[in-house]
Amino acid sequence: MANIQELNKKFVERFGESERTIHVFHAPGRVNLIGEHTDYNGGYVFPAALTFGTTLLIRKRDDKGLGLATTNFPKTNVLSVEKIVYDEADDWMNYPKGIVNEMHQQGITFSSGYDLLYHGEIPNGSGLSSSASIEVVTAFALLTLENQPVDTVKIALMSQKSENEFNGVKCGIMDQFAVANGKKDHAILLMCDTLEYDLVPFNSGSYKLVIGNTNKRRGLVDSAYNERRAQCEQAVQDLKAAHPELTLLGQLSLEQFNASKHLIKDEVVSKRAQHVVEEIDRVLKSMDALKANDLQAFGQLMNGSHDSLRDLYEVTGDELDAMVDAARKVPGVLGARMTGAGFGGCTVSLVHEDSVEQFKEQVGKEYNEKTGLNADFYVCSIGNGVEQLA
Ligand code: GLA
Repeated sequence: MANIQELNKKFVERFGESERTIHVFHAPGRVNLIGEHTDYNGGYVFPAALTFGTTLLIRKRDDKGLGLATTNFPKTNVLSVEKIVYDEADDWMNYPKGIVNEMHQQGITFSSGYDLLYHGEIPNGSGLSSSASIEVVTAFALLTLENQPVDTVKIALMSQKSENEFNGVKCGIMDQFAVANGKKDHAILLMCDTLEYDLVPFNSGSYKLVIGNTNKRRGLVDSAYNERRAQCEQAVQDLKAAHPELTLLGQLSLEQFNASKHLIKDEVVSKRAQHVVEEIDRVLKSMDALKANDLQAFGQLMNGSHDSLRDLYEVTGDELDAMVDAARKVPGVLGARMTGAGFGGCTVSLVHEDSVEQFKEQVGKEYNEKTGLNADFYVCSIGNGVEQLA
């Protein structure tokens, strides 16, 4: 957790002294344990909030300005809160701008302008949802300070919409939902079609979740991501011949899918759909495994998820595959997979606590030999969703 006193000093350096109170909020990053590329297909996901994310310091202004700064870069921008437009040169600032814009679209007006200083602890482009974390913390803080109702499900939807429309990334709901609704030591079983969810205690006993950052930037991710989405929509169109009411792949059981998959004309589209339907089934099986306290089975399902993302959905890439292969060779590892959109970013492994040091050393070494890149590892604890800090 960030040092708030230090951040207060930095806030004043950027935005000056004032009588007004500086409020502090935090939203985490997220890791997805299983259920990948299922959210925009109306299926299940099983993410958890991390203990690190984005800390936001925010203070009202005397005018209608919108001051934006981050401790990660030197630039400070003051825009007008009433005139928000996307500008590529504004880089990460387009996320808070997107939220302000979305709030305006939904008829939420502001009593004043604001200064905001962000302190991001999520490595950029690591696939641990730094953008969702920024969006959600911004919406939560502004609604709180404007004395508006603060509903974390609505905040997730608003954040997703702003990312889809203002930032042009057609992401599903998983990241924003996990960041907004996470709970310490719990993972979230979310049905993305209805947004019904269950907070499931994630009790991994003597096993740790270890995140491995490939430090391979997720290049081309947006276009490949949008292409996968389009392929899933194509599969739905073909399957309508047998299921006229079908709107999302997640509405079919594995049995129903297998009985009608011959209707999918394109072979690649068929592989994509197969992944989605089987992955949703794996999420449900992983719930049974957790209930039975069978971490071995949970780990096997994680492995199955990665292999399907590699062979059927084709979103892993050399770096993620190299890291996962190396991870599975370490004794005490029950399962290893990529997490998030893919094409770089992070892996997550279930590792016996006595093997964590060996894991870091062995996987780091083998990964470096294969890819020339240096990995980072975080032993992860599950934290809370967005909140105001005292
Ligand atoms: C990204 C998106 C999510 C989800 C995952 C893949 O993280 O933002 O909505 O689709 O990829 O599971």
